[in-house]
Amino acid sequence: MLTATLNLLSIATILAASKTYALPQRSPSDPAGLSPRCQCLTPESAQYLVSGYSSLLTAYTTANANQYLSDSFTDTSDSINFLIGAPLGSVTFPSKAAFEAGQGAQPPIDFQVLNIDAVTCDTIVFRWIAQVGTQPVKGINIMVASNANGTDESWQIETNYSEFNSAVWVLDIGGTCQTPKTSQ
Ligand SMILES: *[C@@H]1O[C@H](CO)[C@@H](O)[C@H](O)[C@H]1NC(C)=O
Ligand SMILES: *[C@@H]1O[C@H](CO)[C@@H](O)[C@H](O)[C@H]1NC(C)=O
Repeated sequence: MLTATLNLLSIATILAASKTYALPQRSPSDPAGLSPRCQCLTPESAQYLVSGYSSLLTAYTTANANQYLSDSFTDTSDSINFLIGAPLGSVTFPSKAAFEAGQGAQPPIDFQVLNIDAVTCDTIVFRWIAQVGTQPVKGINIMVASNANGTDESWQIETNYSEFNSAVWVLDIGGTCQTPKTSQ
């Protein structure tokens, strides 16, 4: 009888304890109670967005742009600003529509991701190499991601910061670029 009571007590204790651990705790930054997997980027969701990004350069479609870019998407790049004669320091594509009009009109380029170097909860850092002419152009991107619906499929690119070797890009598209006198 005593053993049975003790056993019941320990079962109750274990149940109470496991209930405490099983109860989902919502943090203040998590009003929707999303699963942790979808609140923060994972290596897989980062890869998903980087592949999506690459597809916009190698095989652009408006459907892909709508899938991978958030409605409040912006793109900032002084490398591009210089190439297109936009003011340095300005936002290159201030909206998704501006990106779609601009990038949608570009020919596909040979673009390879060299490595995804860092993934934080909402930011991805990666390096790439592109071939637009005879010499390769290397660049670095910082992408900030958002996830409107908290699912694996609703990850999108919120902001894109990209800088690259625009001097070589100028040469590759037939421009000229003179370096200052060197000691040679
Ligand atoms: C990211 O930025 C780079 C440079 O501004 C641009 O070439 C590329 O199309 C952008 N990608 C996306 C998905 O916005
Ligand atoms: C989020 O869900 C709504 C409603 O189903 C849908 O219209 C929208 O496209 C989704 N957004 C993303 C980014 O998946």
